[in-house]
Parts: sequence; C-alpha cells; structure tokens
Amino acid sequence: MTTDAQILSALRSCNEGGVSGAELSHKLGISRAAVWARIEELRTLGYDIEATPHLGYRLLNSPDTLHADDLLARLGKTKVIGRDVRVFQETTSTNDVIEKLARDNVPEGVVVFAESQSKGRGRLGRKWFSPSRKGLWFSILLRPKLRPQETTQLTVAAATGLRRAIERATGLKAKIKWPNDILLSGKKSAGILTELTAELDRVKHIILGIGVDVNLSAADLPAELRKTATSLRIETGKAVSRAELAVHILRELDHDYTRICSGKFESVANEWEEQCETIGHPVAIQIGERRFHGRAESLDDDGALLLRTQYGQLERITGGDVTVVG
Ligand code: BTN
Repeated sequence: MTTDAQILSALRSCNEGGVSGAELSHKLGISRAAVWARIEELRTLGYDIEATPHLGYRLLNSPDTLHADDLLARLGKTKVIGRDVRVFQETTSTNDVIEKLARDNVPEGVVVFAESQSKGRGRLGRKWFSPSRKGLWFSILLRPKLRPQETTQLTVAAATGLRRAIERATGLKAKIKWPNDILLSGKKSAGILTELTAELDRVKHIILGIGVDVNLSAADLPAELRKTATSLRIETGKAVSRAELAVHILRELDHDYTRICSGKFESVANEWEEQCETIGHPVAIQIGERRFHGRAESLDDDGALLLRTQYGQLERITGGDVTVVG
C-alpha cells in the first residue's frame, strides 16, 4: 500500500475521533513533516481533512473523483482483482490501456479506471458513451486457465458479480439481460465488453471492460439512448459515490472470478439464471445477418445460451443481441 493509501485507511478507521500526526508518523515510518506534506497533497486532491490540536487529523469528506490510492485503501486485500489499481483522467478506451499492460506481462488482476474515454467501445462494434466523472469506466486484465470456448464463463461471472454489487450498493433490484447487460427497471445501466487473446487451445489473456452509468441525469443521456438506458442516479433519485460503488464491484468480481477459477462455475451459473430476465422467455436473437426466434432455455457448462428455436432445435448461442419478445 502506498503512503497515501495508508493515511486514508488510518483516517477512515478512526471513525469520529482523529488520528494524531505522531501516530501516523509512527505507523508509516515517516517524519511528521512528511505526514503533513502528504495530508496537504490529499487536500489539493479534494479530500477534506481537518487538523485540530486535540483530535489530530480527521477525514470529513472525500471528493467524487477516483484516486488509485483511495480505492486501494478502501478495497483492502483481494485475491486477484484489484491487486493493482490505476486511474487515468482520460484515455481512448481503458481496454486499450490494459492491452498494452498485457503485452508488458503485467500480472493479472490489474484494474484501470478512466474518468473519461474518448473512444469507449461497446459490444458489436458500438460506441460507448463515457462522459467525464459520470460513470465507472474501467477494465481488468485476467489470465484464467480456461480454454477459449470456456471464456463465456467469465462473462457470466462478471455479470453475476456486477449485478450483485449494484444491488448491494444502491438497494435497487437489478436484473441481467443475456449475455451481460445489467438492467434497472428494464433499462440498461451497465454493460461488459470481453476481449480475448488466445492461441488455438489456450487463453493468453482476457480484458474485461465494464461501463456503469452512475451519476448521469436523463439530460446527460444522448437522445437515442433515453428509451433504453438509465443510470443509478436516475433510479435512486440521488447521487451515488462512485468510489464506494467501485469497491463493491471489485470485491464481488474478485469473489466470482475465484469461484470459477476453482471449478465452481455451476453455482455462478445458477445465480446468473435466477437473476436473468432472458431465461424462460420468448426471445429474438440477432447475430450479424441471421435472426433466431425461440425460447431462451438455460446456460450450458461453458456459459453459452441454449435457445429452443421455433422449429424445436436447440441452438448454442455465444454472441449477438437478444430481445425479449411479447
Ligand atoms: C456493452 O456494449 O454493453 C459493453 C460496454 C462496455 C463499456 C466499457 S467502459 C470501460 C471499457 N472500455 C471500453 O472502451 N469499453 C468498456
């Protein structure tokens, strides 16, 4: 943990009371002057830190900006996801940043957030609207021991963890739309873009790119999205702390990633099916030029959707766009 992360963590854990400069200096092994310099730096980043002679330092308020040290301090220890967290003010796409880190052999679990993306991308070649500080736009590097055909398991696990985190952080009822959209009141609030680099029978790495519409107002949403998209703020009626939400999400994703890596995909898939509004319904699926109609039955062992077509055959679906009909 960096010095800033340790200071923020100490300030958070002292609740109402404060923590003295001497205590911090002892805990961190740096001089009191160095503690003071770090506190000043944190203040310039928007942390409202009070200093009083009797109580010492107290954290009164944190800014709604993402700060890597702060995220690490709040997150604490995770198994894989979030061992390393980096924050960019702006980037093309966080998936691009992770791709570069993957080529530099950075270990799995690193998470890159951007306050805004100039070329955010969604599934099926779509653009992903990523306005500054309104959402969580981030990507995670993973190197699971899965065969390429099993990687849908990861998308299923990511959707399961993301849904649970949104529900826990906001108290809202969230559902999954196959393969990995998170819906609130039937509208999309978050999506996942999985990009895979593999050899014939071995996954080299996977980039999990996640976008969550957190504090967008209805007016912030582009007109063409207003009927189908929503945000956590629109649904709860109040602003949501992005840092707190980010920590919930990374914890839940770490939990579900560990579950599938230890061979427990079935339990993840069961939870996914319970929370999925697509399963059991008549659907239309568009894959490129082809359109399938039928009933979404279940997931198979690799996480693909099993569709009973209108002609009675069972089709295994791994991509495309699903609409629940009727
Ligand atoms: C979808 O189409 O539903 C997937 C959207 C994924 C968006 C996220 S935002 C962070 C990461 N970087 C990108 O360019 N895309 C993903």
